[in-house]
Amino acid sequence: MSLANQLFLILFNSRMSKSRMTSRCKMSSGTVTSEGKKSPMNEKRNSSLINKESSAPVPVQGSCHFFNDESETASIRQNLLMWYDRCKRDLPWRRLAESEPDLNRRAYVVWVSEIMLQQTQVATVIDYYNRWMQKWPTFHVLAEASLEEVNQMWAGLGYYSRGKRLHEGAQKVVSELKGEMPQTSEALQKLLPGVGRYTAGAISSIAFGQVTGVVDGNVTRVLCRARSIGADCTSQAVTEVLWTLANALVDPERPGDFNQAMMELGAKVCTPKSPDCSECPLKNHCRAYKQVEKELDTSFRWLLGKEVASKTTVDIEECDSSGNCSLCLLSATPWESSLGVMNFPRKPVKKPPRSERTLTCVMERKSSQGESEYLTVQRPDSGLLAGMWEFPSILLEMEISKTKQITLLSERLGELSRMVVPKHSLQHLGEVVHIFSHIHQTYLVYHAFLDEGEVANIKEEQEKVPASRWMSDREFSDAAVSTAMKKVFNLYQKRISNKKDAKKSSRPDKRKRECDAAVEHSFVIKSEEETGSVKKQLSLYHFIKRLPKE
Ligand code: ADE
Repeated sequence: MSLANQLFLILFNSRMSKSRMTSRCKMSSGTVTSEGKKSPMNEKRNSSLINKESSAPVPVQGSCHFFNDESETASIRQNLLMWYDRCKRDLPWRRLAESEPDLNRRAYVVWVSEIMLQQTQVATVIDYYNRWMQKWPTFHVLAEASLEEVNQMWAGLGYYSRGKRLHEGAQKVVSELKGEMPQTSEALQKLLPGVGRYTAGAISSIAFGQVTGVVDGNVTRVLCRARSIGADCTSQAVTEVLWTLANALVDPERPGDFNQAMMELGAKVCTPKSPDCSECPLKNHCRAYKQVEKELDTSFRWLLGKEVASKTTVDIEECDSSGNCSLCLLSATPWESSLGVMNFPRKPVKKPPRSERTLTCVMERKSSQGESEYLTVQRPDSGLLAGMWEFPSILLEMEISKTKQITLLSERLGELSRMVVPKHSLQHLGEVVHIFSHIHQTYLVYHAFLDEGEVANIKEEQEKVPASRWMSDREFSDAAVSTAMKKVFNLYQKRISNKKDAKKSSRPDKRKRECDAAVEHSFVIKSEEETGSVKKQLSLYHFIKRLPKE
């Protein structure tokens, strides 16, 4: 059988089985048909509004991007919620929220989860969430905690101001709101620090059943694909459209579950770079998927020897007859077949993070018990890593020589420790790279051992210096210290133990050279989006177009 015939059979079989296809949840044991109900997919699509006077369809720019058909909306809600009931992950905040009869506490458990889940993946959040809830099961208990404890608990989760705002919010609920959580999205945004439109919508819908939608990154992707929105999804105009869509679509009976289901769909099925459309409960309502199907149809017709249009791509179902719809934006960036549904959403290319270089020093001394202690200073209580502890650090504004680096550090360490720190006590250990959301930070790491028998106290009054503290290994590992500083400490531990080994070894000079030349690069665990590992959704038409003609 020729390759083209084989392809034909595969295509034919897949098309024939499609009508029988059931959507199976990978996580569920049984197979449940989520689309047994008559789908409005085959009904006439409502891509234009009806002009009531003439009853003639009037093309409305962009109307195809909305949910205009009540029966389709009902079907989307039903399909999505059935899928969610079957497939949702068992997550601690869901369990707590579902079983908590007290509305204030329910809102608190949702609030904590939503704040932690901003910019952090579910798998990372689970452990932090469980520990947090064990320590501060209610906002009353949290309000009693110190910011230091909160930062300590948050250490490693990143975006530290989130923990601080939660803490401030809990104090506000207790002291100013008589222990009553605000119940509507509007009130939550107005009264709680760090609670914006998304978090407020999530808390009010999940904890209080307010019928309001939410739009986060996952929901944005689902909606842009479902409604083929090709305009920049980060723009103000598209953001407003997405909120309008989310508010129109949310299920009035189960708003909290519906919102979580949309997020879950984006996280598990409609993913950025490996969407699994065969598992999607909304595929029959998805305009991006429809486009992929259209391309398959074209390939099918081509295989049957039927005439196909000479153009390389098939137009997305007509939206605006002039082709100028500001939500399609296909004239600016045409549909690319190899991307399939991943043509959406579209966003501008991210600005690369700016590069910074910072001198930092692990300054060590021995306690009276002979235990190592390290000098740490507290960062200002606003801005990046607010209130966190770090090794004395100096942000470099330009490249400077090693000699100058050592001079700067020895002055800085002197101010902080009120000791004269001799330059010869400073040793370069290597470099650590840490990528914050917007900064590519390189730490030039030094070590200084402070032998208090050797160094002199500085007598005169110091200028205002930040709070500083000597920490033992144990204290350092428990303290509110950022991941970047933990990496710096790891480098120190590696290098210093290397040095101790090197002293014992017969070739100390070689070891030393290796240490000094080493550049420690820390690796950031990257999301699928960051690694750029795209599973291409190849259209068959494009594949066979490349086959040699028989
Ligand atoms: N991301 C944000 N909120 C979430 C939730 N409630 N469940 C799962 N993922 C989420």
